[in-house]
Amino acid sequence: MKTIIKNGTIITATDIYKADILIEKGVIKEIADCISFTSDENVTIFDAGGQYIFPGGIDVHTHLDGPLRESGNADDFVSGTRAAAAGGITSIVNFTNPKKGQTLIDNLQEWKQHAESSLIDYGFHPIVCGYHDNVLEELPQLAEQGISSIKIFMTNKGDMALNDQELYRILKKAGDSGIITSVHAENGYIIDELIDESLSKGDTDPIFHAYTRPTVTEAEATNRVLAIAETANAPVYIVHISCADALEQVIQAKKRGVQAFGETCPHYLALDETYLRLPEFEGAKYVCSPPLREKWNQEYLWKGIADGSISVVGSDHCPFQFDGQKTVGRNNFSKIPYGIPQIEDNFSIVYHYGVHEGRISLQKFVEIMSTNPAKIFGLYPKKGSIAVGFDADIVIFDPNGSKTLSANSQYQNVDYNLYEGTVVQGKITRVLSRGEEIVRDGKVIGEHGRGQFLFRKKQSTLKAEPEITYI
Ligand code: URP
Ligand code: ZN
Ligand code: ZN
Repeated sequence: MKTIIKNGTIITATDIYKADILIEKGVIKEIADCISFTSDENVTIFDAGGQYIFPGGIDVHTHLDGPLRESGNADDFVSGTRAAAAGGITSIVNFTNPKKGQTLIDNLQEWKQHAESSLIDYGFHPIVCGYHDNVLEELPQLAEQGISSIKIFMTNKGDMALNDQELYRILKKAGDSGIITSVHAENGYIIDELIDESLSKGDTDPIFHAYTRPTVTEAEATNRVLAIAETANAPVYIVHISCADALEQVIQAKKRGVQAFGETCPHYLALDETYLRLPEFEGAKYVCSPPLREKWNQEYLWKGIADGSISVVGSDHCPFQFDGQKTVGRNNFSKIPYGIPQIEDNFSIVYHYGVHEGRISLQKFVEIMSTNPAKIFGLYPKKGSIAVGFDADIVIFDPNGSKTLSANSQYQNVDYNLYEGTVVQGKITRVLSRGEEIVRDGKVIGEHGRGQFLFRKKQSTLKAEPEITYI
């Protein structure tokens, strides 16, 4: 069975050109000016005239099938990957949530079962929740099982936050094992003090979530973990950078030769802390950590994307219902489960505010949404570009179309949309995953359970190299 995509404009991280694409057995077989076929051949033709052909989005920051702490996430692998596909995402790397006392290997096996219902391809970043010596022993085993990244926290004191010694040991061992460490960099110890002070003054509204997590607590933690990674000579990936001050730490570390990578998320690029002040407690819908920041930070984040200081945009999709989950914190912002839904809108938001509004090029869009995530997280050269030999994970996109983002029309299993009513330029018309059409005219037609586990390559230990290489 062959598929040919004709007349489209192919966009990669480096090139823009018109060509046809031949797909066989789920893989890109040929790219040429005009690929011909005979009428007796069993071939499916997609005409992509006037449309862009992007490599499928790779969202390396998703929390499907929580729970992170007490409140279960709204999307599991069925609803979450359906929403992802509708939004142009063909691979995810999802966080696992370990149970107390569970080994990382057991945790991984459990999560592989959770994800069997996935519609798109998936990998995992195990969250290392608390430190014990076994963790160090398990890291090389994880790498052998196709897990080339983990996540650790400097916040959530009590159950997750690691101290500097623990950070050093884990970063060092992970780096030596071919694993990149993702870090949630906020100073949880100071934040907890600020939360107590705020609540004791009766300052309980959602906006105080932002005020008790000031940018300095993110920048300090970012700087500290970058220094620890530098000392350990280990690669480090700073997730969900929200502000100019934290980004500045990554820029300085890169200048020193630290193998540091930065990620931001669409909400920090498109929204700001005024959303936390919405009436009727609606600000709770926007509670995430780090929090939304003052608007002026957005310009710095976009500049960081454009100049390469930020390598990836991930959704940080961690959805909770407004009614019944977010509302738990009505009288105390610290009880609002933090996390927001946007696996479905990530691609559209970054395209609209980035490419359409002239902040980044089409090639940069592909680089941050697909190519860099694939390179940093061990999926390249299987995923992350449109080239012969790559999986045929493809988004066909009409730049003249448009889409209205709304809870009423979304696949995300959540009772609100962060961008309700926003009209974004461009429309996803088809999505192919390993050559199979999973989205047609914006509707998901792929079956659950067709997604495959992504065995990811170990990262080499050439720490000071600017380019990631693989063992
Ligand atoms: O608010 C957020 N970011 N929720 C998800 C959990 C995390 O730390 O990424
Ligand atoms: Zn985090
Ligand atoms: Zn997250």
